[in-house]
Amino acid sequence: MQTDFLVIGSGIAGLTYALKVAEACPDKTITILTKTQSDETNTKYAQGGIAGVMDPEQDSFEKHIEDTLVAGDGLCNRRVVEIVVKEGVQRIEEIISWGAQFDKESDGDYKLGKEGGHSEYRILHHKDVTGREMERALLAAIAKRPNIRLISHCFVIDIITQHHLGYLVTKSTPDIECYGVYVLNLVSNKIEKILAKITLLATGGNGQVYRSTTNPAIATGDGVAMVYRAKGRIENMEFIQFHPTALYEPGIRGQNFLITEAVRGDGGILRNHAGEAFMEKYDQRKDLAPRDIVARAIDNEMKVAGTEHVFLDCRHFSREKFVEHFPNIYAKCLSIGIDITQHMIPVTPAAHYSCGGIKTDEHGRTSIKHLYAAGECASTGLHGANRLASNSLLEAMVFAHRSYLDAVQKIGPVTYREDLPDWKADGTNAPKEMILITQSVKELKLLMSDYVGIVRNNERLHRAMKRLDLLYEESESLYERTVVSPQLCELRNMITVAYLIVKCAEFRHESRGLHYNTDYPTKSEMIQNIVL
Ligand code: FAD
Ligand code: SIN
Repeated sequence: MQTDFLVIGSGIAGLTYALKVAEACPDKTITILTKTQSDETNTKYAQGGIAGVMDPEQDSFEKHIEDTLVAGDGLCNRRVVEIVVKEGVQRIEEIISWGAQFDKESDGDYKLGKEGGHSEYRILHHKDVTGREMERALLAAIAKRPNIRLISHCFVIDIITQHHLGYLVTKSTPDIECYGVYVLNLVSNKIEKILAKITLLATGGNGQVYRSTTNPAIATGDGVAMVYRAKGRIENMEFIQFHPTALYEPGIRGQNFLITEAVRGDGGILRNHAGEAFMEKYDQRKDLAPRDIVARAIDNEMKVAGTEHVFLDCRHFSREKFVEHFPNIYAKCLSIGIDITQHMIPVTPAAHYSCGGIKTDEHGRTSIKHLYAAGECASTGLHGANRLASNSLLEAMVFAHRSYLDAVQKIGPVTYREDLPDWKADGTNAPKEMILITQSVKELKLLMSDYVGIVRNNERLHRAMKRLDLLYEESESLYERTVVSPQLCELRNMITVAYLIVKCAEFRHESRGLHYNTDYPTKSEMIQNIVL
């Protein structure tokens, strides 16, 4: 198969880019690949909303920029922050023009919410299912474009570069080029080669590397792992954001239901088992401090009390108001016997967002030629050491747009590389037992949660790396002799991503933002030491 533009991923980043390219180049072909159903993405589960300066009388670009920089703890690229905040408003207006609906007040103004780290009300939302609404609107707009082909159940294994032509490619090879991808078509069960002039990776996050995560099963960091194998540049992987308030449901493994931060924005209060509102002990912004601080505070309360969760208290809300803003959360809680007006909600932190990823420039270009990245798999410089809530849907749209502008300009002289070999499956056999894969996945999640979670130290990181080495050896040996399956590819990808998280964490000899290592003090701890 050949396609002018190839898009891997059908979340907000991939769909926004595809729509724009399709409109600008009606004579070109655009192919979107997605590994399960077309709407099964992190995007679909986004709850709180999308941040944007929609009311310049109350809010300003400067304030949104400042909030993003403060959350990022000194590691944001200021220019990128300015770009995203300023261009974001146009991107929001665009998705509204494509049919996405956000909640409005009776006077027609948008209802704006607030989340941790935001100094103003600036979050547009569609009740508590904002992502589902955005995904719906984007897929509906995509369906109207005749030059877009969306292929679901198509698992991308690797991007094709000079390496597949027999050249030695290393990290210092100049001009590594992307010619397309090898994919496992899950309908025909065949491995196919897709040639592309320009490819965009929009493969989302990697929360599945941890035992508790708000991310769906698709979030296994495939794009990052592919680029790392292709010798492209990856950065900032140590900054894994744990959402403070995933619903605690004993026995649930895989995807934890999220209780959006907007609930705290509307007045929800975190309490420990003694009923104490503990956040004021940790930060003067209390329950609306940035996520790294709130997640660490909860982790500490749980460790001190020896419990597996704390509580989010919403008993003071009026039922009517809660249901109006959070119907999905209300129904979910009720389905497990929690009436939020009578009972507190048990909550626990869960892996939520990857701030680092494939390094890109201001135009979404990766270090590999003809390869772009946007959305959660990319590291643009916006988030620094900690993402500000509701900035990721915004970033995905801004960088999808910037990638599209650059790609349509660059595609002219690019030709298909026709001499690429087909996938070689010689010497591989059907897997004898899946337990070799499933058990390794369990081990991986366990070691990442226990050693590389919210609080880290050097010894834990060292142990994690030793165990990862073993898992890597075993999975590579399995990969060489086994017919590929999505499960095996995801295991390999998750091991690679876990390795990158630990490696980056080991390199950082300080505590900053989401990376908290008890062997190194934070900036404020250092200041306290000096004062003492
Ligand atoms: P995704 O939407 O995750 O899409 C990834 C796509 O890549 C999928 O189609 C998948 O099938 C495809 N893919 C991956 N690997 C392969 C492969 N090997 N082959 C083929 N296809 C592949 N952010 C906010 O700004 N505001 C919020 O309110 C918010 N709430 C959130 C709530 C939850 C529960 C979660 C999990 C995240 C939330 N986020 C929020 C974060 C935000 O939703 C994500 O960062 C964003 O949606 C990512 O979009 P994306 O397009 O990069 O990737
Ligand atoms: C939430 O709704 O709490 C998630 C928002 C985000 O991850 O940006």
